[in-house]
Amino acid sequence: MKATGVRQLHKQSIESPNNFWLEAASHIQWFKEPTAACSVEDLSKTTALWFEGGELNSCYNALDYHVENGFGDQTAIIYESPVTQVSKKISYAELLYDVSVFAGALALQGLVKGDRVVIYMPMIPQAVVAMLACARIGVIHSVVFGGFAANELATRIDDALPKAIITASCGVEVNRVIDYKALLNNALDLAQHKPEFQVIYQRSQAIANLDRDGDIDWLIFVEGQKPVECVSVSATDPLYILYTSGTTGKPKGVIRDNAGHCVALKWSMQNIYNVNPGDVFWGASDIGWVVGHSYIVYGPLFNRNTTVLYEGKPIGTPDALAFWRVAAKHKVKVLFTAPTAIRAIKKEDPLGELVKKSGFDLSSLSALFLAGERSDPDTLEWAEKQLKIPIIDHWWQTETGWSICANCLGVEELPVIQGSPTLPVPGYQLEVLDKNGETLESGIVGALVIKTPLPPGSFSGLWNDEQRFNSSYFLNYPGYYETGDAGYIDENGYVFVMSRTDDIINVAGHRLSTGAIEEVIASHSDIAECAVIGFPCELKGEIPVALIVLNSQQQNSHEDIQAVTVQMVREQLGAVYSYRQSVIITALPKTRSGKVLRSTMKKIAQHQEYDLPATIDDPNVLLQIGSALTNLS
Ligand code: COA
Ligand code: AMP
Repeated sequence: MKATGVRQLHKQSIESPNNFWLEAASHIQWFKEPTAACSVEDLSKTTALWFEGGELNSCYNALDYHVENGFGDQTAIIYESPVTQVSKKISYAELLYDVSVFAGALALQGLVKGDRVVIYMPMIPQAVVAMLACARIGVIHSVVFGGFAANELATRIDDALPKAIITASCGVEVNRVIDYKALLNNALDLAQHKPEFQVIYQRSQAIANLDRDGDIDWLIFVEGQKPVECVSVSATDPLYILYTSGTTGKPKGVIRDNAGHCVALKWSMQNIYNVNPGDVFWGASDIGWVVGHSYIVYGPLFNRNTTVLYEGKPIGTPDALAFWRVAAKHKVKVLFTAPTAIRAIKKEDPLGELVKKSGFDLSSLSALFLAGERSDPDTLEWAEKQLKIPIIDHWWQTETGWSICANCLGVEELPVIQGSPTLPVPGYQLEVLDKNGETLESGIVGALVIKTPLPPGSFSGLWNDEQRFNSSYFLNYPGYYETGDAGYIDENGYVFVMSRTDDIINVAGHRLSTGAIEEVIASHSDIAECAVIGFPCELKGEIPVALIVLNSQQQNSHEDIQAVTVQMVREQLGAVYSYRQSVIITALPKTRSGKVLRSTMKKIAQHQEYDLPATIDDPNVLLQIGSALTNLS
């Protein structure tokens, strides 16, 4: 395949998806081979079913197969934890044993294929063990990011209805220890659904009281348990649910199937990231996000890479050399992170003097991949200058599970054009449409949409919400999946992703819902209404800023209201929302029919030109917002 250029390969994937994906499917291990790649039920409505009739097990593909083939001694996970001063290697054979035993313990409690388990854990190897153990017995895992508050965890518990929750006693952030068990207790108090039991991995930084009904210590849970074999699951059976932000406060439970996911990720490791089995791959993200699922856990393990599990930050753990220290120490071949992480490092080492002085040998590093938000040219240039390797922007989403657009280094390295994640990846038929669904000429910004069927690996639905699945993604542009991003394609086919078309913001590479923040703030008794918009931030890309309208008879001072709402968002949604700033205004700008002019406010915040909507109720409100936002730092 590698002799073919990427444009040719893309053409093949679109013209004969069955041939293309059956060939890719031959590189994974099946218990029962599929007879066809794609079966499409209704093109205008949903995504396709991939590899129907096939049977496999994702954990088998990640672990057993490699051990059976003599690679048991190869390192599967390098656990680097500058926050706890631990550095540890875990071989494929060791990981397989731990996973099989944990799976045995879950099975003994009666968990079977199709049951759900929520995993709320920091970046420790036990989190990977828990995920793979679920996959081994066909249990659907749902990992919840550790930075979310109890309320968010409760919402996910009530939606996924897990039989068990797996957690750790604590997470370790730069300057504080986060009491995960207390957060879990709060979440269980808030949730309607009560799981049967909770397994808690005790960390020495904070030992938890296991005093709740159903609490059990991880070590006791696995003690004396027998390893179990992989169960065979159908190609289309769900592997996991991962909740992501939608425009409302209710998160969307993205469902990922087993086979499409395995085929696509295996293909991507070699063809996009250009890593071979045995290479060291580092996805510097968190297992709570899709990047962590695909490129800390599953992708590298399917491809028999050594994956780095990093419990730390790009700066402050202990310094701005953290990434380069780990990359040099473990001879990382490919590093994948968010632009915000590089911006943080650049801020502390603007001229690259620290990197130079450190003398770290980064010769093994062949490429740096960036995703999660738009890569700004300054960041790209800085990274290129310091590392002298290709810096590859690539664009994807929780829903797709892997890249929509990328420079496929394993197929053909194309010139990097700043601001562009390069071309659509084979499997993705990307188009730019206007509001009426007409195709736009090259260079004109419109809605970025993907012609259905979506390729393997993309989501197969939203948990418990078929109706939202259809209305959020397939309604506005029949026959297409709506990405929610706007952008354009230039005359050479390079794609440029410019902004979201909805109310989602991107804070430090984390996709967050302004609607969720608004719901929390608006519940303050002194607040009549509010709107939250993304405000430019040099480090995090965007941060949320609330525009607050008070009740006529407010009880508290402006300062109190502002401080209390910050605390409310932190407690109810989580610190990761990075909500700190608000402005008090007299009214929200609305059309005469009452629609809040969010996109106009966003343009004001981002210092972009805007047209005064003809239907605006009171134009002076926009002027007031303009001056209020100018005073924000
Ligand atoms: N558990 C508990 N709390 C968490 C957490 C976790 N897993 N992750 C983040 N938080 C908390 C942080 O402690 C911080 O709390 P604070 O307000 O009390 O300081 C808050 O959430 C915001 O965290 P973060 O966004 O990480 O900001 P930061 O200021 O601590 O660090 C960066 C800034 C740029 C260094 C950091 O955002 C970063 O490394 N970003 C990379 C993003 C990334 O990997 N994205 C994934 C997509 S590829
Ligand atoms: P998530 O689902 O959390 O991965 O967030 C997906 C969203 O992040 C996308 O819809 C984009 O808005 C944004 N995003 C991800 N990668 C890029 C990129 N390379 N360029 C621009 N935006 C990106």
